[in-house]
Amino acid sequence: MVRGGNQRLVISWLVALVLVLLVVLATRNSARRDDDGGQVRSAVRALSAVQRPLPVQPPAQPHPQNVLQTQHVSLVNGRCGSGKWVEGLPPLYIITPTYPRAEQVPELTRTAQTLMNVPNVVWIVSEDSTVASTSVVQYLNESGLNTVYLHVQMPSRYKKVGNKPRGVANRMAGLNWVRENAKDGVLYFADDDNTYDIRIFEQIRWTRKVSMFPVGLVTKLGVSTPIVKEGKVVGFYDGWIAKRTFPVDMAGFAVNVQYLLERPLASMPYKVGYEEDGFIKSLGIKASEIEPLAFNCTKIWVWHTQTKKNEPAKPINHTIATLGTNLKIISEQLWKGPAIKTKS
Ligand SMILES: *[C@@H]1O[C@H](CO)[C@@H](O)[C@H](O)[C@H]1NC(C)=O
Ligand SMILES: *[C@@H]1O[C@H](CO)[C@@H](O)[C@H](O)[C@H]1NC(C)=O
Ligand SMILES: *[C@@H]1O[C@H](CO)[C@@H](O)[C@H](O)[C@H]1NC(C)=O
Repeated sequence: MVRGGNQRLVISWLVALVLVLLVVLATRNSARRDDDGGQVRSAVRALSAVQRPLPVQPPAQPHPQNVLQTQHVSLVNGRCGSGKWVEGLPPLYIITPTYPRAEQVPELTRTAQTLMNVPNVVWIVSEDSTVASTSVVQYLNESGLNTVYLHVQMPSRYKKVGNKPRGVANRMAGLNWVRENAKDGVLYFADDDNTYDIRIFEQIRWTRKVSMFPVGLVTKLGVSTPIVKEGKVVGFYDGWIAKRTFPVDMAGFAVNVQYLLERPLASMPYKVGYEEDGFIKSLGIKASEIEPLAFNCTKIWVWHTQTKKNEPAKPINHTIATLGTNLKIISEQLWKGPAIKTKS
């Protein structure tokens, strides 16, 4: 009698437990469905419960045991091996043209973190803009790299044409900086929407006149490269030969600085599609003098990756849940589109 009563009590407890478990699982699943549903009704999900404090408070001061945290602090400042200078190694003057857009800081971050692995780099970031972008200047400052920041606008006569020669004025500004400040080393145009294997930098460093190498993800052919036979450049493989003597990509060649300085008239034309060709021709180099790198152009160490274009960020609709929070600071870092020109 007593035993039977105990059994019934145990069974009803078990049933109750199973029910509670089912309810918990059902709420968790519906919450997940909410996340995956894609139909975001509100951009803000407020946490109803007060966040519990961490079980152990992190130490206020870096603690000897807390090596990871100390490393993290130095990475926050971007100075993990960046801006290294080794005596006797020719410097690389790397010109990166850029312009304000949603992807600008992410792209520059990627390029910077590549260059942090390369010694003796002077990184000339040249922006197509009337005003200096605070976010760019600030990022360069934090990067710890040896940087030069320039900003310049495309001459107004080219702004009216449909197919604008983008990136020429700011590349030329970088080139002029090199002419005025560099004595030796190597010049390279590194756009911020490319991916670089750092081995290419160690190879271009020893360029005597003009060196060339393959660039991947260019046109439908998937690559733009010199054609090399027995160690000599005998032609070019590129999806758009047109009337170009040197049908190469902007990221596919490097120039010795002394060689450049001996050619004070060398410059880049404001001619869409012919920027590389015009510049290389203005150096007066012969095809037979070109130094094929990347093991006789058998390796692709640069790609024209490109990044998906993003829309400007929508403004944050502040509510009671967002006022006085980090969202205000985050909002300042979002790309809100180009400044709207007002007629005066
Ligand atoms: C803010 O509100 C406007 C107007 O209701 C709406 O169109 C927009 O999508 C909202 N933005 C966000 C991020 O929720
Ligand atoms: C970075 O900015 C700080 C604060 O404005 C300034 O003191 C410092 O000199 C800058 N560093 C570089 C490398 O420009
Ligand atoms: C390139 O090819 C030439 C001629 O075949 C050869 O002598 C040279 O060693 C090659 N260079 C490299 C880096 O493989």
